[in-house]
Amino acid sequence: MTEHEIFEHDVLVIGAGGAGLRAAIEASATGLRVGLVCKSMLGKAHTVMAEGGVAAALANVDDRDNWRVHFSDTMRGGQYINNWRMAEIHAKEAPERVRELEAWGAVFDRTKDGKILQRNFGGHKYPRLAHVGDRTGLEMIRTLQDHGIHQGIDVHMEVTVVLLLKDGNRVSGAVAYDRERGRFRVFHSKAVVLATGGIGRAFEITSNSWEYTGDGHSLAYHAGADLIDMEFIQFHPTGMVWPPSVRGILVTEGVRGEGGILQNSEGKRFMFEDIPDNYKDQTAAGPEEGWRYVLGDKEANRPPELLTRDHVARCIVREIKEGRGSPHGGVFLDIAWIKEKMKNAKDHIKKKLPSMYHQFKQLADIDITKEPMEVGPTTHYVMGGVRVDGDTQMSTVPGLFACGESGAGINGANRLGGNSLSDLLVLGKRAGEYAAKYASENGETSINNEEVEAAKLEALAPFDRQCDCSDGTYQIQYALQKSMQSQVGIVRKGDEMEKALEDIADLKQKAATVGVIGNREYNPGWHTALDLKSLLTVSEAVALSAIERKESRGAQFREDYQDKSEEWAKYNNVVRRGPDGSMQIERIPIPEMPQELQDIIKEMG
Ligand code: FUM
Repeated sequence: MTEHEIFEHDVLVIGAGGAGLRAAIEASATGLRVGLVCKSMLGKAHTVMAEGGVAAALANVDDRDNWRVHFSDTMRGGQYINNWRMAEIHAKEAPERVRELEAWGAVFDRTKDGKILQRNFGGHKYPRLAHVGDRTGLEMIRTLQDHGIHQGIDVHMEVTVVLLLKDGNRVSGAVAYDRERGRFRVFHSKAVVLATGGIGRAFEITSNSWEYTGDGHSLAYHAGADLIDMEFIQFHPTGMVWPPSVRGILVTEGVRGEGGILQNSEGKRFMFEDIPDNYKDQTAAGPEEGWRYVLGDKEANRPPELLTRDHVARCIVREIKEGRGSPHGGVFLDIAWIKEKMKNAKDHIKKKLPSMYHQFKQLADIDITKEPMEVGPTTHYVMGGVRVDGDTQMSTVPGLFACGESGAGINGANRLGGNSLSDLLVLGKRAGEYAAKYASENGETSINNEEVEAAKLEALAPFDRQCDCSDGTYQIQYALQKSMQSQVGIVRKGDEMEKALEDIADLKQKAATVGVIGNREYNPGWHTALDLKSLLTVSEAVALSAIERKESRGAQFREDYQDKSEEWAKYNNVVRRGPDGSMQIERIPIPEMPQELQDIIKEMG
């Protein structure tokens, strides 16, 4: 029997990005004992990759903005299959959460009269993104971390959870290991909040770092929770494409918000050529109008570079496929051109986009104040995740909550940029609040020691197997990434996705027999072996859901079903673990939207 240490918490929060931190702050404010588990070091989270801003209808730059417009934009962006209750709560509460963050010390950029400055972003009708240059997520993490650390939250750094424990139907804790020494930890708690972020590492090109292997999604699924909307993966239109070592690193949408334009190898601003019907009313007729919009002219319409991410990413792929791409397989993103319009353009770019300036200078030897960047789509975010109640964020498993990228519903078929940061504040707070309430109102749980021992044995099994280095843990992950990228990527086809499912089944078998060498102390090969379970689980859920949805909507574009279907507008896809352990899929009808919200959408056109 292998030793383990036991930790007692009332609420256990797994994941310490913005959502997890915000949940932990709220739960610990009630006086309960809160544990916060981070897979990496505290402060290192994908939240920092939401660079351009946090969306909230503060109306500081355009006084026509309010929660109703934000709600309507979010629903339109999500192509109306969003959980409307979450979208409503999010739009209503985001301004308060941003002001609260400011009171906790976040230093936002300012308007001339001292208010929080807001910038344009794709799909948002008015300038709505409160920002700190292009380091908004970083500033938010810093603020939440500083605030949370004084509240007596117990932080467990470099710890990965491998199993959620249950007492009957109810969640009762988790089994985990620490990366440094490979020792096991058992967390005993009355409620658990999942906030582990996304699944980007299931794809070859991604803005996500190594931690994002879909752990929360997979833990919830194996604990019996429902996952929803898993077919919808957001490919951010602009990631770096060159040099190869930095491929996928995010290039913030803030570049386009500040006037950056997309061009193909012929110098054409191709985004003007394909404007979806449902955005025609809000899109500029030509470059001049688009530029006036960037400068804040209230009569002008958005430039087409600020259409929603799903659409922009597809247009970029089209240009590349049809041979009008840049030398390294992307397209050109140019912010330097604004010097034709602005005297102090160079200083302006450096001030508004300091990270982008340094990123390109240091990693690609490109001066973005003088020359265009080469960019292409990168896997950035998953709209799908744990199915939760819109008010409380509780999943279908009692005592198990989810928020941030782990929770799902608010974004529907496509997320608007900046809504992730406001979502993690609003819904993270709610997850922490309701998890604490649940923990206070429900008695102790007990831990099943047999389950704990079985989880430890399963985790250690790769050490007892023969390691064949030609098919080791990294090779399995790489094969999965290649299969997902090429067959369940931006443009999908039924037969290719069926092939991806076959690949996943094959890789599952390999993962079940893969061996690792070395010992338990800091052993990345072993860690990857354990991550494979999550990666394969979420990949199967994505492929299965994408095959099931026979239409194109938002982030899902199917070459074999290119149109939106009225029938599919009524459903979300749910996957869950069946009694025989296989993954099952079910369509569930979207509840009818209250008249008041329907009226808002009608009014906004
Ligand atoms: O482009 C960006 O700055 C990313 C923002 C987001 O994903 O919300």
